[in-house]
Amino acid sequence: MKTQLETKLAQYGQDHLLKFWDELDPDQQTQLAAQIDAIDFDLVQSLINKKAAEGSSDAEAMRAEVPPAITLDDFADSASYDAAAAIGKQALANGELAMVLVAGGQGSRLGFEHPKGMYPVGPVSDVSLYQIHFEKVMARAKQFGAPVPMYVMTSPPTHEETTAFLKEHKFFGMNPDHVRIFCQGVMPAVDDDGKLLLADKDRIFVSPNGHGGTLAGLVDSGCLQHARELGVKHLFYGQVDNPLVQICDPALVGYHIQSNSQMTSQVVRKNDPVQKVGNVVEVDGKVQIIEYSDLPEAAARLTGDGGNLKLWAGSIAVHVFDLAFLEQSSGQAETLPFHRARKKVPFVDDAGAAVSPEQPNATKFERFIFDLLPFAKNAIVCEVDANDGFCALKNAPPAPSETEAHVRAAISDLHTRWLTAAGVEVAAGVKVELSPLYAVDAEVTKERFAAGTKISEDTYFGPTE
Ligand code: UTP
Repeated sequence: MKTQLETKLAQYGQDHLLKFWDELDPDQQTQLAAQIDAIDFDLVQSLINKKAAEGSSDAEAMRAEVPPAITLDDFADSASYDAAAAIGKQALANGELAMVLVAGGQGSRLGFEHPKGMYPVGPVSDVSLYQIHFEKVMARAKQFGAPVPMYVMTSPPTHEETTAFLKEHKFFGMNPDHVRIFCQGVMPAVDDDGKLLLADKDRIFVSPNGHGGTLAGLVDSGCLQHARELGVKHLFYGQVDNPLVQICDPALVGYHIQSNSQMTSQVVRKNDPVQKVGNVVEVDGKVQIIEYSDLPEAAARLTGDGGNLKLWAGSIAVHVFDLAFLEQSSGQAETLPFHRARKKVPFVDDAGAAVSPEQPNATKFERFIFDLLPFAKNAIVCEVDANDGFCALKNAPPAPSETEAHVRAAISDLHTRWLTAAGVEVAAGVKVELSPLYAVDAEVTKERFAAGTKISEDTYFGPTE
């Protein structure tokens, strides 16, 4: 077996991966051989040879515009909103929606020892991110009387524990036939000489291949097919770390359908020209994201009508996809390019010693789901107020933003606003939390509570029958 592997690896200049082969026991040898077998060395070699993909040029950025947008003004215009919401509600009632929740990231900044979705964030209930997402999906299914299948993407580092957790909690009450958990692929990392790194003597370092791995993952796992068989036409995409995500919001879905859009991205209005979010823009008729690090400041500061920022649309990684568009895209392997990221990757050196680098020492390769935007016909963006739809859990304290404390406060504040709008009096300083199965949005909150109700202590309105 060793000779065969050596021959294969030598072709790619990667035979150092067998350096410790003779020290390994048969099980370890088998697992290393299996790992080598699973790596697409042609692909890795082509990425090593290729120069880093060039982002958009400065000239392109200067002539970029925001794509066709549904703004908060449209949402506030009752005729526009009601028409869109009616379309979305009908699609939900027809069973045309499914949810894909991406949860394959390793949450390295958060420093939580379990998959991020298990993190307790309910401000009063302490329920997990997963429970909130599952209940939102079930709430929409219940509200419109048709199933909304749920596809959860994990990765090798998060798969087992996530599966066990969700099973232990019986998918929070969701019909197991409507839940699929699929594992995304991985990619090796290379050092500055283009050599793959060993995580251990018997193991090549690999990491999840980015949220762009969703596309191949959905296809390979059969989830896209499953959705197609159930009559699903649109996939709502969200990230596990954003508990405010407006899963299958009828108006958002309705605007997507009304626009005949193959991919709709929900965005926030940037409050700072150089805010650290991806910019959703359109250049020469193609919608794309320019990362904040690639957007020249001169372009970022351009203003348009009334002195407002020209490139105002910041991505929050919430999308609605046309199912047929995903099916077509999956047939074109090259659709999603790999991006490079310099990272600190612990490895085993030639002498067999474990090294924990203090500086980035390796390049990781990741695909991004938003790279589908330029291929989507009629792509639009839909604005949302961040307070209503986006607060991600990324960091451990004492980080100034995106910590557990921020997320808990954001949930309680949002629910307080829904209640206040419904005429409920919430005493100052009191925390309130609505299970999505109790009230999934402002509209349902209004139906659930009598005006004049008073809430004077921290309260969780839990799931109801
Ligand atoms: P992030 O890039 O913020 O990564 O992922 P992360 O794992 O949450 O946190 P850090 O950067 O390691 O601290 C954004 C979303 O995309 C998912 C994550 O689970 C998260 O929901 N994701 C990311 C994947 O599903 N797979 C990946 O390979 C990368």
